[in-house]
Amino acid sequence: MEKKTVRDMNLAGKKVLVRVDFNVPIDSQGIIADDKRIREAVPTIEYICRKGGRVILISHLGRPKGKIVSKFRLDPVAERLSKILGKKVVKCDDALGFKVKEAIGAMKNGEVVLLENIRFYAEEEENDAEFAQQLASMGEIYVNDAFGAAHRAHASTEKIASYLPSGAGLLMEKEISVMQSVLSEPKRPFVAVIGGAKVSDKIGVLENLLDKTDVLIIGGGMANTFLKAKGYQVGSSLLEEDKVKTASDLLARAENIGREVFLPSDVAIGKGIDDSSQVQMVQADCIPEGWMALDIGPKTQKKYAEMVMKAATVIWNGPMGVFEQEAFEKGTKAIAEAIARSEAVSIVGGGDSAAAVEKFGLADKMTHVSTGGGASLELMEGKILPGIAALDNK
Ligand code: 3PG
Repeated sequence: MEKKTVRDMNLAGKKVLVRVDFNVPIDSQGIIADDKRIREAVPTIEYICRKGGRVILISHLGRPKGKIVSKFRLDPVAERLSKILGKKVVKCDDALGFKVKEAIGAMKNGEVVLLENIRFYAEEEENDAEFAQQLASMGEIYVNDAFGAAHRAHASTEKIASYLPSGAGLLMEKEISVMQSVLSEPKRPFVAVIGGAKVSDKIGVLENLLDKTDVLIIGGGMANTFLKAKGYQVGSSLLEEDKVKTASDLLARAENIGREVFLPSDVAIGKGIDDSSQVQMVQADCIPEGWMALDIGPKTQKKYAEMVMKAATVIWNGPMGVFEQEAFEKGTKAIAEAIARSEAVSIVGGGDSAAAVEKFGLADKMTHVSTGGGASLELMEGKILPGIAALDNK
């Protein structure tokens, strides 16, 4: 990686501001449903502590929009982190101010402090320079390990890097290098499985991956727009009329460059997203009026699984159907199981597909499950992420 990392820094005795992404799902009882993002930040925290640094953690949680919102306080996160690290994590009730400075002033080498949710300050999302400078003044080194938030140009992810020597944390480094190596020198055949609700969310990824992959597999709600582009009847399925032309252009380009794009040949249909009382399997070219395609059908599952099994590299982003419901989870499960069985290098790009592999208990069978949803999507689109770009070069 051309960016500096914690391994290039002299950390002993230094106050190290570490931006992490502890934006984890927390229920109304304050229970953390999935602590992957906390666990994945631990190697960086432990590394800095081992090298004699003092770790000052900065994170956001949810979207409190510049206001203090109790349910978005980071206390449950501090508790969980402390349990995982097996040592005390001092939790501050603010991210700036006298008390925070006092807590940081009292730190010894190898100790950990967690600041309050940085999005309680409106200046954070405004990428405010003065705010970033105030934050920076509390430390001597800035480390960004918040891959999940690296696509945001915010004060604690971007601007702050202008005021301190900076580098990437170990999670950030892993996320970038896994994705870069797959996108630049994939073992072939290289298969991308792209799903999710909307074509508009994935068009950048499809366009970037079309040139790089050997096979593009399309599923999920977005497949309907492609089916429509082929002139099929999609009944009452989710459809983006204004993207039909985009879908048809992409299919034409794929044909021109000799790339295989697979669309569902059969689908599971139902009466509504929340209604699994009636489910039928039909050919993808004759979805009746009043019915919606909510998953890929059994023939498509078999075909897609076969394609995945032949791959040497697989990238997966987006579910094949409404996997949150048992009636419509089979397509997503079939893909997850095929990837789990295959010998391919497999990258699951965050968000819903990461949630799906967790749900099916297959996360540890994947080569890499990203901690970033939007961030991994933007990397797959070939974009430069501001949180990475801002860091010092080697
Ligand atoms: C995420 O969960 O994708 C990141 O933490 C970024 O959160 P945001 O979409 O609220 O900026």
